[in-house]
Amino acid sequence: MQHIRTIVARELELVNQHIIEQLQSNVPLVENIGHYIVDAGGKRLRPLLVLLSAAALGKCSEPHTKFAAVIEFIHTATLLHDDVVDISSLRRGRPTANAEFGNAPSVLVGDFLYTRAFQLMVQLQSMDVLRFMADTTNTIAEGEVLQLTRAGDPSTSAQQYLEVITRKTAVLFAAACHGAALLGDYDQQTRQRQHDFGLNLGIAFQMIDDVLDYEGDPAAMGKNIGDDLTEGKPTLPLIFTLANGTDSEQALVHDAISNKSADHMDEIIVAVERCGALDYTRNQARHYHDLALASLEHLPASPYRSALADITALSINRDR
Ligand code: IPE
Ligand code: IPE
Ligand code: MG
Ligand code: MG
Repeated sequence: MQHIRTIVARELELVNQHIIEQLQSNVPLVENIGHYIVDAGGKRLRPLLVLLSAAALGKCSEPHTKFAAVIEFIHTATLLHDDVVDISSLRRGRPTANAEFGNAPSVLVGDFLYTRAFQLMVQLQSMDVLRFMADTTNTIAEGEVLQLTRAGDPSTSAQQYLEVITRKTAVLFAAACHGAALLGDYDQQTRQRQHDFGLNLGIAFQMIDDVLDYEGDPAAMGKNIGDDLTEGKPTLPLIFTLANGTDSEQALVHDAISNKSADHMDEIIVAVERCGALDYTRNQARHYHDLALASLEHLPASPYRSALADITALSINRDR
């Protein structure tokens, strides 16, 4: 990841400046919580996608660095909200904002970040970008609600799972890549390819996130494993086990989802591994990785395009 950051280091620094500047508020708790989560870091993957997409298309300019900050703000807002909904206690290697400050402040500061993102976006003076991001954030919000309605439902299909992860995660990746093209005024076909690249990358990224929730190392990830099970989230590893595990494995997973219980976490980790559910999910992620790479082929060869390909590979081969 480090070598990827180096090639857009100057632009990333500008993104960071925008982020710090836009966290300013006259209400101290807003700044406290905003800094609490932002200063903890994070991979800054989505801003990187904006900058590298813009550079690979031809030119990364000042509006792109602002747009990258917008995307990271929206991402951070969803994390604040997500950790409340998931009752998560660890994020980016520290207690979550909800664990540290409480649920209400986390939700409200999440709203601050969401709305600040739109204030910053207005400065870009592009009705196309504004319209596109209004649609994107609305789809994300719907995705989060859709996920909530699937929680605790062991009859959720792989198709329904795909619908949830596309909405809650992949559309923001798509927006990062597509938005870079919108700001550069590229033609419809170019924008669509950028969109497809980001969307497929985002799907692959979330599939691996769902694998890591069973087999990851909390110290490396900076978040706990098992949170999905506690929420009764029917992610792909569980959906596969419900169809292909032994009778007792199926019963184990069925009950864990229905009861939203991580009581049998250790046995479930053994089951998803044994029946091949984690391998299957990794292979599915690879499929979307390949689709993403295919969209990149249309870009002219450059260090930026290579870096986008590297990010895609890293997304399915990561421990954090
Ligand atoms: C976490 O995203 C939320 C998911 C979509 C899985 P990241 O893994 O990109 O989180 P940070 O920004 O690096 O902390
Ligand atoms: C990603 O889902 C949620 C968002 C898009 C915010 P997860 O619930 O799996 O994300 P983590 O694992 O908490 O980061
Ligand atoms: Mg979560
Ligand atoms: Mg997760």
